[in-house]
Amino acid sequence: MTRHLLRDDDLGPAEQREVLELALRLKADRFALRPLAGPRTVAILFDKPTLRTQLSFTVGVVELGGHPMVVDGKLAQIGVRESVADTARVLGPQVAAVVWRTFGQDRLEQMAALAGVPVVNALTDDFHPCQILADLLTLAERWGGPAALAGRTLAYLGDGGNNMAHSYLLGGATAGMHVRIATPDSRQPAADVLARAQQLAATTGGSVLVTDDAAQAADGADCVATDTWVSMGDDTDEAEAVALFSPFQVDAALLGRAAPGAVVLHCLPAYRGKEITAEVIDGPQSAVFAEAENRLHAQKAVLAWLLERS
Ligand code: NVA
Repeated sequence: MTRHLLRDDDLGPAEQREVLELALRLKADRFALRPLAGPRTVAILFDKPTLRTQLSFTVGVVELGGHPMVVDGKLAQIGVRESVADTARVLGPQVAAVVWRTFGQDRLEQMAALAGVPVVNALTDDFHPCQILADLLTLAERWGGPAALAGRTLAYLGDGGNNMAHSYLLGGATAGMHVRIATPDSRQPAADVLARAQQLAATTGGSVLVTDDAAQAADGADCVATDTWVSMGDDTDEAEAVALFSPFQVDAALLGRAAPGAVVLHCLPAYRGKEITAEVIDGPQSAVFAEAENRLHAQKAVLAWLLERS
């Protein structure tokens, strides 16, 4: 059966741990696995802006022995010039895997249904599972390995309905973490994602909390994470976002409520003075550049893991 990573809960708890262990191994020995030797090609498609994702997937595919074919969605116009279904049937027989950053989750699902090779979500409107694996890897490195994630508290402040919030809910609950989302009432996580995270947490010993009180989320947290207030494709106007999200800014006072030495994460790009202050993102508790590097190791592990099982 072909395996995919379309959303965070495509990996069960034991599988997520395996991927994180593999990422640690590949970080220690970058050329240890060459599942794409040939070289086999991976199609890496972007319908939204990118820097980190293009970089880390390109480098990662090369390091796994393969050939990255990066396609700008403006050229390919998937779903406009040609349906997603036809694109999947054209790509599938020629590539080893498809990595796609796009808008609707349904597009990715159609690709996965017909490509016949592993499909990896490189960010959709709904989820960003590669980023969460990189985040969990970053925390695991600091806390003593993937098994040490369970029971720890991660507080995310900002847009509770965006891809990062959804992926923290699913990926964090899968890891057995206590995930707290602080967000305004108007930006609640999708009800089905929240319900799924609660269901996962019940099996892993984690928990899920959604609150409009930033302090309540941050109190004693082991990790404090945030993200841009206006995601790609979100048409919320800048002034409106500032008014809505200012109470959720990660600043020194907020971080001071967290556990001593709490780790600060941000998937980048960051807007200093908006969702996070310069003092915090550039301060000693920030792990954001290690987190950015860990995209490489986490994604190599995902590709190697999916290819082995497909
Ligand atoms: N929520 C952000 C994540 C960027 C990596 C966005 O979708 O723009």
